[in-house]
Amino acid sequence: MEQTINRGLDGVYIDESAICFIDGGKGQLVYRGYDIRELAGKASFEEVAYLLWRGELPDRAQLDAFRARLAPYFRVPPAVYDLYRSLPAGTSPMAALRSAVSLLAGFDEQPDGVDEANVHRIGTQLLAQFPLLVAAFQRIRAGQEPVEPRPDLSVAANFLYTLTGEEPSPAATRVMDVALVLHAEHGSNASTFVARATASTLTDVYSAITAAVGALKGPLHGGANTAVMKALEEIGSLEAVEPYVMGVLAKPGGRVMGFGHRVYKVLDPRAEILKEVSRGLAEESGDSKWFEMSLEMERVMDREMAKKGKQVKPNVDFFSASVYRMLGFPGDMYTPIFAVARIAGWMAHLYEQYADNRIMRPRLVYTGPTGKTFTPIDER
Ligand code: ACO
Repeated sequence: MEQTINRGLDGVYIDESAICFIDGGKGQLVYRGYDIRELAGKASFEEVAYLLWRGELPDRAQLDAFRARLAPYFRVPPAVYDLYRSLPAGTSPMAALRSAVSLLAGFDEQPDGVDEANVHRIGTQLLAQFPLLVAAFQRIRAGQEPVEPRPDLSVAANFLYTLTGEEPSPAATRVMDVALVLHAEHGSNASTFVARATASTLTDVYSAITAAVGALKGPLHGGANTAVMKALEEIGSLEAVEPYVMGVLAKPGGRVMGFGHRVYKVLDPRAEILKEVSRGLAEESGDSKWFEMSLEMERVMDREMAKKGKQVKPNVDFFSASVYRMLGFPGDMYTPIFAVARIAGWMAHLYEQYADNRIMRPRLVYTGPTGKTFTPIDER
């Protein structure tokens, strides 16, 4: 077999998929035939999850039935709250979510079945539970009691409701829905690949999703939105943006978080939409600090990258940081919120993977020594 190395699996196709199409040259993201610009701001997160899972947008009756299937899962076992209370202070919300998903398997009477019906059942449950898991951890670490979700509310609204204990405004729910729709799916990104690779051993859904949460946590992937906010906070003012960016780029291998993408070589369409959401929130609230700083960062990056003949544009994580900040979420919750959305995409891919599976087993080109002979330990 020819030994071709594609580091970072760059350009490697591992299978066929009918879920998502990305044209990185044109800045196009398509869910099941629908351009993301067609969906964001028009479809609810539940409609998009249905689309990703079933291949078509639901009609009214199908959406009502889907919501009715989600409603009984708007609760989490109290053991998850006990777990959260037992975690050491300073545990990150992503680490807590990873542990919670793993724990949930223990409360499932049929965690291991990978037949279509069982995988769909678990997927429906996780779609309903992810926002609650994330909101409950935030409340518990802030010394508050978790809030019981309301089965009559949507996933987006329940997230806001269980986080704050107050019924969210239609405007906040709309912004949340847009953010969830934009983050729901993105082809064979690192965490989705990890989910599919894990499932390819025919292990259970909880294991695949736990692994995916772990992969999303990384700063080169979903963790970048938290890193963007941390950077904006460290920078602190509009004037300090340029020196900060120049300082990062001056370091060997320096990366400005929230910029660059393996697939997009023009602006990530999700970033384009979130930029406008961020602009809108800044105008409404009269607090444009984070948005203005983000624009300045984009300007300096554009200028510096152009000097190097590179196109390194904002990705989805960049403007989501200022959006979430203006919605009042703590910075380290941004990546778990990404997971609340991406569970829809992960599950869509697990359905495909389990339905037509081949174990994933790539190779490594061996570069170590050969031909050594064993020396007993006392003679080494
Ligand atoms: N800051 C500065 N330069 C960058 C950045 C960045 N954020 N991203 C890419 N570049 C430059 C690199 O210097 C590289 O130049 P070189 O070829 O001279 O070394 C070139 O652009 C290509 O970058 P690679 O790192 O080779 O791209 P890769 O596809 O391997 O990595 C990644 C993509 C991980 C997203 C990278 O752009 C990065 O580290 N970005 C910052 C982290 C981030 O925002 N991640 C979120 C991505 S979106 C998501 O996962 C949800």
